[in-house]
Amino acid sequence: MSIVAPPILRTVADLRDRIAQWRREGARIGLIPTMGALHEGHLTLVRRALEAGECAVVSIFVNPTQFGPNEDFGAYPRREADDVAKFAAVGGHLVWAPTVDAMYPGGFATHVAVSGLTDGLCGPFRPGHFQGVATVVAKLLLQVLPDRAYFGQKDYQQLQVVRRMACDLDIPTRIVGVPTVREADGLALSSRNIYLSTDERQAASLLPQVMQETAAAALAGHAPFAELLESARARLAAAGFGPIDYVAICDAERLEPVEDLARPARLFVAARLGKTRLIDNIPIEAPAP
Ligand code: PAF
Repeated sequence: MSIVAPPILRTVADLRDRIAQWRREGARIGLIPTMGALHEGHLTLVRRALEAGECAVVSIFVNPTQFGPNEDFGAYPRREADDVAKFAAVGGHLVWAPTVDAMYPGGFATHVAVSGLTDGLCGPFRPGHFQGVATVVAKLLLQVLPDRAYFGQKDYQQLQVVRRMACDLDIPTRIVGVPTVREADGLALSSRNIYLSTDERQAASLLPQVMQETAAAALAGHAPFAELLESARARLAAAGFGPIDYVAICDAERLEPVEDLARPARLFVAARLGKTRLIDNIPIEAPAP
């Protein structure tokens, strides 16, 4: 089977022409927004669009406005040729890779801020982050006007923020959340995992393990959530994680901390290992039979 190289478009005008042509042909369009450094998690999102019979558009844009001043914008992996090859190999159709100037031309002054959902979890630790995300995703959705857009559940707070934003702004794209893809030891795939040293990568496998055990204990009602979360924190700290930004059990929709499982809930963790900030979350539910 020969692999067809997907076109790489860099201006909104070129993108709109291509999308308009597809629409005239009656195509359905699926968007996979990314910052590049594509891994199996991203490729799973692309496959979901292809399985739905959509033309798959991947956006590759390392969005400066979602990084804080002391974060890793400069170091964030940029490997476009490799990304395009991976995207082509799974059968993706189009790469939307705007320049910073195309995305934020001189005089740009509009921002999208989603309140409530951004008050907790990563919100206080990454001021401005979700405003940067909501603004760039709103732009990506309005540029591509896809039928569906696919996001990994690993960034669960981001997924909820994007859902709220698309609903509130009447953007007619269905937002699809896709379960996290994990390594064999349970570590969630992330473009930032490449920052981990060999020792850190080994230690990182404790994170999904502690999370699974904490979720199981919460489900079994072994102790009040506060106690379970404290013990999870202590185990992570003892293994070299720190600072630990949060270990929390929150309502799966509103993302507010809960103390029982009256409604669907998830366990959320954000912790640093060396210079890498890892985040993860899992549902608190009985395993499928
Ligand atoms: O999840 C990401 O890679 C980014 O936050 C996104 C959604 C592409 C916006 O820049």
